[in-house]
Amino acid sequence: MLQILRAKDQTQFGQLGARLIADQIKAKAQSVLGLATGSTPIPLYRELVNLYRSGEVDFSQAHSVNLDEYVGLSPEHEQSYRYFMQTHLFDHINIRPERTHVPAGDCAAQDCGQYDQLIRDLGGIDMQVLGIGLNGHIGFNEPDDRFIPYTHRVTLTESTRRANARFFEDKIDLVPTAAVSMGICSIMHARRILLLCTGEAKARILYDALNGDITPRIPASILQAHRDVTVLADEAALSLF
Ligand code: F6R
Repeated sequence: MLQILRAKDQTQFGQLGARLIADQIKAKAQSVLGLATGSTPIPLYRELVNLYRSGEVDFSQAHSVNLDEYVGLSPEHEQSYRYFMQTHLFDHINIRPERTHVPAGDCAAQDCGQYDQLIRDLGGIDMQVLGIGLNGHIGFNEPDDRFIPYTHRVTLTESTRRANARFFEDKIDLVPTAAVSMGICSIMHARRILLLCTGEAKARILYDALNGDITPRIPASILQAHRDVTVLADEAALSLF
C-alpha cells in the first residue's frame, strides 16, 4: 500500500516526518530505524530533535542503521555520512552511540555482508527512511541492469557526483568516486518505508518511480512492490501527481 502525504512547506514537511518516526518509537521503543542522509531529511531530523527536547520521544531503546557511506572519508570528515548523522541527529538525542550504525566506508567487498548480518541480528528494520536521487537511486543503489540485493560497494555515477558536489565546495573532483550502500533486499525487507522527496527538480523522477515500470534503471521503482510505503513530499515534488 502506498500512501502520499503532501506537505505545504518545509516546516510542515519536517513536522509530519518527525511525527511518523516518533510514533514508530512510541509504538515500539526498541525500533530499528533505517536512516538516510542528504539535504531532504534535514528538516525532519531538526523536528525530531525538538520532539526529543520537549520530552515527547525517548530514543534510549532504539537502534539505527544508515543506508550508506562514502568510500575514503573517515568518520570525522565533515562530509562523511557518519559525521552528518552525529551533527544533525545523534549528538542531540539520547540514542546510545553503540546502537547507531553506519556502513564502514572502508568496507572491503567481502566484509559488506557483515552489515546485512547486523541488520538481521537486530531483527530487521522497522522503519526505513529514504531520499531519492535525481536519477532514481535509493541509498546509493544507482541505475543498473539489475537490482543488487545486499550491501555492496558501488561506483557513483557522474550524475550523483555532480548532484553532491554542492557539499564539496562545488568541486566534483572532491566528491568520492565510490560508496558502500545497503542493497535493495535489505531496504525492501523493512517493515515500513518512509520515502522523502522535496523540490521541483525531483517531480519527474518521483512520478516515474511510482507510476512507471518497475526497473533497475529507476531503483526507487521497486518500492511499488512494497506493502507499506508512505511518500512524504512537498507540493513541488508532487506537481505531476
Ligand atoms: C543518502 C542517500 C541518498 C539520498 C539522495 C537524495 O543517505 O541514501 O540516496 O537520499 O541522494 O539526496 P538529497 O536529499 O541530498 O537530495
